[in-house]
Amino acid sequence: MHKLLDVTDITAGYGDGPAILDGAHLTVEPGKVHCIIGPNGAGKSTLLKAICGMLKIREGDVVFKGERLNGLRPDQILRKGICFVPQERALFPKMTVRENLRMGGFILDDKRELDRRVESILDRFPILRERSDQHAGTMSGGQQQTLAMARTLIIKPEIVMLDEPSLGLAPKIVQEMFDIMKTMSSEGITVLLVEQNALMGLRNADLGVVLDLGRTMIEGPARDVLSDPRIQELYLGGRKAA
Ligand SMILES: Nc1ncnc2c1ncn2[C@@H]1O[C@H](COP(=O)(O)OP(=O)(O)OP(=O)(O)O)[C@@H](O)[C@H]1O
Ligand SMILES: [Mg+2]
Repeated sequence: MHKLLDVTDITAGYGDGPAILDGAHLTVEPGKVHCIIGPNGAGKSTLLKAICGMLKIREGDVVFKGERLNGLRPDQILRKGICFVPQERALFPKMTVRENLRMGGFILDDKRELDRRVESILDRFPILRERSDQHAGTMSGGQQQTLAMARTLIIKPEIVMLDEPSLGLAPKIVQEMFDIMKTMSSEGITVLLVEQNALMGLRNADLGVVLDLGRTMIEGPARDVLSDPRIQELYLGGRKAA
């Protein structure tokens, strides 16, 4: 299978601190939804930060379409088409929805093209069109998450990484977020998702990764990860999930 992104046994940590990731690996396949699960503090967020250039990789490699990304700055990695939505969503709360979408395209030099893309995203997400002149910070959690996800589309990304997009959202709204991810994936965008709700995340993903103590424990088709006895025990309360 063709690999889009290959993370091989990376070690990384914050500043001069201890290694938080120590033997994390990941194979990302084009156009698929990947779900990373693992206990609190396992290093899931750290892994996404390391891929997008926010943390220095001490050992191992991050290779995207055959090119090593180690040492590149976050904006350089973004220009390659890898977009990261952190857990706190990184919206500008005092800016309008339209301004937030424009900010998402700060790497685009052609401002007319940027305007066209903003309008096409507003066409695509009616709730954002309706609220286009509203400050992002005044919207509901689900609307803000929709904006954060929609904003990634401005750069026509190849990979979108989402850190716990469902956090704090009502179940019905969570399903809407998964539906957006599925649409992205059906359009060829590769999704890398960290999800606290293992069952929900894996059920909505093609591939699953289990991270613990900074290391990849299990990697494979989401269906297999769901039925893995270790996962049943740890995350799914021993119930048969699939
Ligand atoms: N900015 C930081 N500086 C120093 N240590 C950090 C920082 N952020 C996280 N850590 C440490 O890195 C380890 C892994 O944290 P990380 O946030 O990657 O875990 P996680 O799997 O995303 O957990 P959670 O499920 O709680 O989101 C933790 O021990 C945490 O204390
Ligand atoms: Mg986290």
